Amino acid sequence: MTDAPTGPRHVAIIMDGNGRWAQQRGRPRLLGHRAGARRVREIVEACPDFGVEYVTIFAFSTENWKRTQAEVSGLMTLFRRYIEGEAQNLLKEGVRVRFIGDRVRLDKKLRDLMHWIEALTAHNAKVNLTIALNYGGRDEVARATKRLARDVAAGRLDPEDVCDETLPRYLDTHVLPDPDLVIRTSGEARISNFLLWQSAYAEYEFVDTLWPDFTRARFEEVLARYGGRDRRFGGVRA
Ligand code: IPE
Ligand code: IPE
Ligand code: MG
Repeated sequence: MTDAPTGPRHVAIIMDGNGRWAQQRGRPRLLGHRAGARRVREIVEACPDFGVEYVTIFAFSTENWKRTQAEVSGLMTLFRRYIEGEAQNLLKEGVRVRFIGDRVRLDKKLRDLMHWIEALTAHNAKVNLTIALNYGGRDEVARATKRLARDVAAGRLDPEDVCDETLPRYLDTHVLPDPDLVIRTSGEARISNFLLWQSAYAEYEFVDTLWPDFTRARFEEVLARYGGRDRRFGGVRA
């Protein structure tokens, strides 16, 4: 059998650099976030062409609340507008939308919209878009552990049966495969609390492009580099 060049099935993206993109133009940071939101459609719609079945995007971290109240509320408004404005297009394009992260801290209007678009697109299957909103990898593992502990306390789970396949069932991502490739834009080479558990064997690509400039062509270049990588998962190549 020949090795068919296989692309990543699940790509996760840390969409970074919106603020700097705006600053370079002498414009407010929020303008960069708006430009970033417009870029999402192009990348999501490119996924089926490149064989990518799952795309997960980091939109707001559990640490992003530290930003000014104006930026945080501007982002929350942007998320609502994104859902309202993109819903029909996402439906038409066969995109199934899911959210990961802790919804408790989000306002009710936004939570209702998130639930609405998840239900609206639940029968789509062309590409799976997961939006990480108020998401932190450590927070996710902590919340998962809480639920696991409840199951133990209630006698539904034997602590002796807990293994590395148990915890993922409690994570927000329990229905998703692990990411094969994690891309971070804007030149920063760090994870910033994204998909900590799930990315144990992901390949990483750190690109200098700021997120609002990350075009389909840039995406294709990154995917091509992934094709040249040798994923061994701790083993040795035959
Ligand atoms: C990423 O862009 C989007 C969010 C974190 C919401 P940034 O806002 O972090 O942009 P930079 O890093 O300041 O340029
Ligand atoms: C990570 O970017 C979060 C998102 C892209 C939503 P940040 O800009 O918040 O990360 P740091 O602060 O540079 O690590
Ligand atoms: Mg940033």
